[in-house]
Amino acid sequence: MSHTSTTLAENTPPISSSFQEVLGWVHGIRGNNHVQFLQFRTNGKIIQVVIEKEKLGEETFKFLKTIPQETSLRILGYHSENPKAPGGKELVLESFDIIGASGNYPITPKEHGPDFLHNHRHLWLRSKRQIAILKVRSELSFAIREFFRNEEYTLIDTPILTGSVGESAGTLFSTEYFDLGQAYLAQTGQLYLETAAFSHSKVYCFGPTFRAEKSKTRRHLTEFWMLEAETAFLNNEENISFQDRFIRTLVETVAKRCLPELQILERDVDSLFASVRTFFPKINYSEAISILQSKGETIEWGEDINAEREAILTEHFKSALFIKNYPRAIKAFYMKQNPEDLRTVLCADLIVPDVGEIIGGSEREESYDKIVERIKEENLPIESYDWYLDLRKFGSVPHSGFGMGQERILAWICGLPHVRECIPFPRMIYRLHP
Ligand code: 4AD
Ligand code: MG
Repeated sequence: MSHTSTTLAENTPPISSSFQEVLGWVHGIRGNNHVQFLQFRTNGKIIQVVIEKEKLGEETFKFLKTIPQETSLRILGYHSENPKAPGGKELVLESFDIIGASGNYPITPKEHGPDFLHNHRHLWLRSKRQIAILKVRSELSFAIREFFRNEEYTLIDTPILTGSVGESAGTLFSTEYFDLGQAYLAQTGQLYLETAAFSHSKVYCFGPTFRAEKSKTRRHLTEFWMLEAETAFLNNEENISFQDRFIRTLVETVAKRCLPELQILERDVDSLFASVRTFFPKINYSEAISILQSKGETIEWGEDINAEREAILTEHFKSALFIKNYPRAIKAFYMKQNPEDLRTVLCADLIVPDVGEIIGGSEREESYDKIVERIKEENLPIESYDWYLDLRKFGSVPHSGFGMGQERILAWICGLPHVRECIPFPRMIYRLHP
């Protein structure tokens, strides 16, 4: 179906303007009986297209006035300055062709509940806020890789199908694997990354990881993306300083590159920039427990710090903070025992306001005997770790690393209450569709 109104020669545009063909979708349309303003989505941006009755004629004007949302079009028009239009510019429509029809589009400008929107995630992706979030995600992914390349880290792609438990036996997805028994979806790339740190010294991986999380919370997905780094000859304190620099650089870089998107999301960027201007406080787990107790929390030394209590601590410090040296019993088997307090391990979590933990990291146990003892204590099948234990036999060195959840840091940057909008197709215990 082709709707060509006046020919271009008949209707000469102002000399300074230029004609342009734009391909995209009808995002919305509003106006009056003489002029309509089409919100047209192209390349993930919404531009304003002016539709003038006088120029296009009664019939075409009437047709366009009721054109269904999400109809795809090829339009031809010329640019014109308009301080009131988004970006100060608009396109004055000359002609158009319909590429694909639409009708009864389920997501309308009115309010919809989260369930409805998640059921229509494949279409919801077209909305302005969702476009903004995924654009920030894309910039975040790029900035992560850029940071590690600048720091001369080597990217190591760790496997997604694994034969040993990477993190904890409680949240494994498993599947039959031919004649070899069970395979698991990777909960972490860390153990493989450690092996590569012994060849490249500074390595990272960045990919999807899986956890059969039974918890329905604002910050848990069953499939999420994790950035992990591993560095040989680095101790826990140096590892924490590196993370501090990484996160502050990353947030600042992404926020600077995504100002228009953060504006759409109504994120207070001044406070975001301010929050990464100075080093994050670093406290011990024991200190965190004392602070919580002083605020009336009934928490004992040895207990994990849940999301609510993390929020109390970020509120107390009015900042993101590192909590170091958690009890050994509540942390993963690979963390190095703290020689100054054997009940604890040399580790740190980075906790940020409104989201909570975004990083878990530690120095790794380098002693063969101690790590074997921990694997046994956790009732993990020792035979599946033979390759990992080899690292402690052939030139074992101090080494440290960490993992950062991409959706969690994105939720912080964008100021979103839930990680489920931070990934194109969220996977949660109650959601696998679409
Ligand atoms: O603290 P975690 O479990 O640490 C590890 O997996 C280590 N092996 C990382 C390492 O040292 N190489 O997870 C790291 C981060 C968390 O801080 C959190 O940001 C994110 O991964 N994360 C999740 N994000 C969304 N949904 C979940 N279910 C998550 N579980 C962890
Ligand atoms: Mg953790």
